[in-house]
Parts: sequence; C-alpha cells; structure tokens
Amino acid sequence: MAAPLTNLWKSRFATINPLLRICKGMGNSYRCYSFAKQSIARMLEKSLIQDNVKVKGWVRALRGHRDVIFLHVSDGSCVKPLQVVADPSLCGSDVTYGCCVSVEGRLVESSHPGQMVEVAAHRLQVLGPCDPVEFPFKARKKHSADYIRTYPHLRPRTNTFSSLLRIRSQATMAFHKYFQENGFCQIHTPILTSSDCEGAGEVFCVEPANSQLTQPVEGDREANHFFKCPTYLNVSGQLHLEVMSGGLSRVYTFGPTFRAENSRGRHHLCEFYMIEAELVFTDTLEDIMQVMEEMVRTTTQTVMESAQEDVHYYLQNTGAEKQRETVEAMATRQFKRITYTEAISLLHANNTFQFKVQWGADLQKEHERWLTQHLGDVPVFVTDFPAQLKPFYTKLNPDNKTVGAVDLLVPGVGELIGGSLREDNYDTLHSRLEDAGEQDMYDWYLDLRKYGSAPHGGFGLGFERYLQHLLGTGNIRDVIPFPRSPGTCKL
Ligand code: 4AD
Repeated sequence: MAAPLTNLWKSRFATINPLLRICKGMGNSYRCYSFAKQSIARMLEKSLIQDNVKVKGWVRALRGHRDVIFLHVSDGSCVKPLQVVADPSLCGSDVTYGCCVSVEGRLVESSHPGQMVEVAAHRLQVLGPCDPVEFPFKARKKHSADYIRTYPHLRPRTNTFSSLLRIRSQATMAFHKYFQENGFCQIHTPILTSSDCEGAGEVFCVEPANSQLTQPVEGDREANHFFKCPTYLNVSGQLHLEVMSGGLSRVYTFGPTFRAENSRGRHHLCEFYMIEAELVFTDTLEDIMQVMEEMVRTTTQTVMESAQEDVHYYLQNTGAEKQRETVEAMATRQFKRITYTEAISLLHANNTFQFKVQWGADLQKEHERWLTQHLGDVPVFVTDFPAQLKPFYTKLNPDNKTVGAVDLLVPGVGELIGGSLREDNYDTLHSRLEDAGEQDMYDWYLDLRKYGSAPHGGFGLGFERYLQHLLGTGNIRDVIPFPRSPGTCKL
C-alpha cells in the first residue's frame, strides 16, 4: 500500500532537515553543497584543520626546492590561493604554472605568516597539463590589461580577472538586494522588441538567417519581416517597465542591452548590462534622484562588505588604490545637484575646453569630467536638459523649453545613469509622436496615458560603467566577461 502523503513528506523532510540546519548559521548558502565544502574558500576558514582534503584547481604559483615544492592552487572560490606543500617525488615534470591539479592531503596550520593553513600533500595528480612556454600568461610576470584582453577565452586564468568576475557577481546580487528590499518587483523585459525606445536609431535589426521562414507578400512590406514588423534587439527596457509600473507601482529589470554605436571608446560597448527602474506617483525629479542616490550608495556599501578581499586585491593589482577615496565618496557623501543651465554657466566661466559648449548642445566627456572634479569629486546630478536633447517620452517642464530629465555624472567615467519623469499628458505626448510621425507605432504607449495614467519616472544605470567607476578601470572591456564592440565578437 502506498505510504500516506504526510509520512512521505515527513521522511523527505527528515533527509533534508540536517542540510537545512547546516545552511542556517552559515552566511553563504553555497556551503550546503558537498562540492563547495571542498572549495578553497571553505578550507581557508581554518575550521577543517587536520582533516583530509581533496583540492582541485589551477596552479597559480610554483616554487621548487631540493626537498620540497610549494604550489599555490586556486579554484576561483576566493581571491586567496591555497598553499600546497609537496615532496618533489609527488610532482612530475608536468606540474607547471597554469596546469590543473587534484591534490589529496592533510590541512594543517601553516608556519608561514602569509596564510593560516596549507595542505601537506600525499597525492598529486595533474588533471590538465599546461605548456608554460606556450601558455600566454607567465609565472611571476605582471601582464598589462591590454595584453590580457587579447585572450578573452583565457582571462579567467588570471587572478585579477577572476577577482573582477567575483566582484561583478557580488555587485549583481547587491543591486537585486536593494530593489527586493525596497518593494520593487523584477520584470524580465524582452530582448526582441519593435520599438527603438531612445529613438536614436542605434538598433540592431533581427531577422532569421533562413530567409525561407519569412513569406513575402507582394504589396505588403511588413510581411517581409519574420515578426511582420521591423524587430530589434532592445536598446532599453524602459517602455516595457512603464507598462508594468502601471499596475505594480515599482518595477525594475537587470539585463543585456544592445546599441549599434560605432564607438570603440573606453566607456562604450555594443552589448552591456543595464539596471532600470520605474516608479509611479512621482511628483518631481527629486523623487527619482533620491532612489538613484540611495541605490548607488547602498549597493556600493554592500559590495564593499561582501567582496571586500576581492576589491582590495583588484585595486592593489591594477594600481588603482587611490580609487578607495572615490568609492568612499560614492558610499558616504551626498551627491551634488545642478541644472543643465547652471552647468553651462560653470563651463563658460572656465575657458580651457577644446570643445566649447553652447546652451542646447550635449555635454562632452571632458565637460562631464570637469564638472564632477570642480564640484568636489563626488557624483553630480545634472537636471532639466533642453527638450531637443532628450527622447520623446521625457516630460516637458512648465518653461516649455526644458524637460524633467537627469543624468548622474561620476568622476572618471562621466554619465553613469540617465533618467527622467515621463510625459503623462496624453495630448502633449500625442503631438510629440505626431511630429515624429510615430503615433501609430506607439498607440499602445498612448493607451497608458488614456486609462488610469499615473505620474511616473525612472532611470537606467550602465552596470559596466558602475564597475569601472567602483574599481577605477580605464577600459570598459575589462569589466565584462565577453565584450562586444564594432569589429569584435569573436567568441
Ligand atoms: O542614458 P541612457 O541611454 O538611458 C536609457 O536608455 C533610458 N531609457 C533608461 C531609463 O530611463 N530606463 O542609458 C542609460 C545608461 C547610461 O547612463 C550609461 O551608463 C549606460 O546606460 N550606457 C552604456 N554603457 C555602455 N555602453 C554603451 N554604449 C552605453 N550606452 C548607455
């Protein structure tokens, strides 16, 4: 006879209960898994002293003496390597810098001040040899970021890039944590879309490689498209978030964004990650700026705690130690606020720029950099831009010349966040779309203003620019796992 459901549940629960107890009281949930129990991060916590352990990882340093060999093994679970002490008889000639090994031994207290524990090996096996002559990264050599970047498939074998990846992962969690703790609902906005949200024409078009999948109909241009309309990779999830905010109040998304910008600049990618939020019942730009400021501040504090060792290592190894002050400013100091018009006056008073900027023109990188420096090396909100500089959805100010838009500029990087109040007046929005000849395409967007419209606004933060600013990284390609730029999409 089948066991009653309650008994079945009890026996299942009995099996998972000890696991649950292990999880509790251990800050990081990954420790629940037996694989992670053997991770170097766990072993370095010292609690396993005298245990027999099995370590698998890559040799990141190797020092040989006549009667003993020291290996630094890293499995990527933390910034510190685990020192393995082995008798030379255990190490064949294939134990080299860069190879992948499996080591069995005893975890003992280390007499070296650099580490608390080490493994006294009694078995060492090479899982994957690595020819140190051919391997592009050399032992004890500091490789430049430019050099490392030329090996995108091997970058994680370097300590600096693995640190960056762990920081990136922690920062991702920190942003989610901020939104989840502040009543925002995560929305998976689409990657395929028929709208060019920013209206800048920087879209990638999407059609199937197999042209037989589209069935052209004579006289019907739309039928030439797989989706029966021109379709693009999204340049922003904003419009889709606006849809959802009109029912959920506070929403956010964190995903890949695509721009066909013909720039190989240090702050531009064709594929980058954007964190976007949309909130209703906003009265002024200040409502949005407060969320932007709190999000950046809280997230930065969380990352500085959760990825402390990696951030320390990364800054030290990339020569960006003075970046700590910038991070301090981002995590603790109040951000400055000026209007676009005030910014132009300040720039005019300073006459040293190569490019002069007139009211109505976009600020150049050099202007943005100067403004943050001039205002005390803190993040600066620039608000109320001329209407012609911002997209159709931005709310017109009562002066009929400027719009309720805001850019957050940060030292070294320039624009980190772009945001605005959204035009919620049906007639104003309709006439703007009409002027652009796009009212038919955006009929659904106009509907949002027709049925229970609410004043709202939001913003988008470039995640890679955030990491650049946090870590003082000069080139945006060094903070993303697989950079895409014009001419670069190799793997
Ligand atoms: O200022 P942007 O274009 O704003 C929008 O897309 C709005 N629709 C967002 C919103 O309100 N929901 O882009 C937002 C941010 C920029 O401030 C910048 O940090 C980043 O995205 N960004 C880029 N990052 C890397 N490479 C590029 N090509 C970028 N373009 C913009």
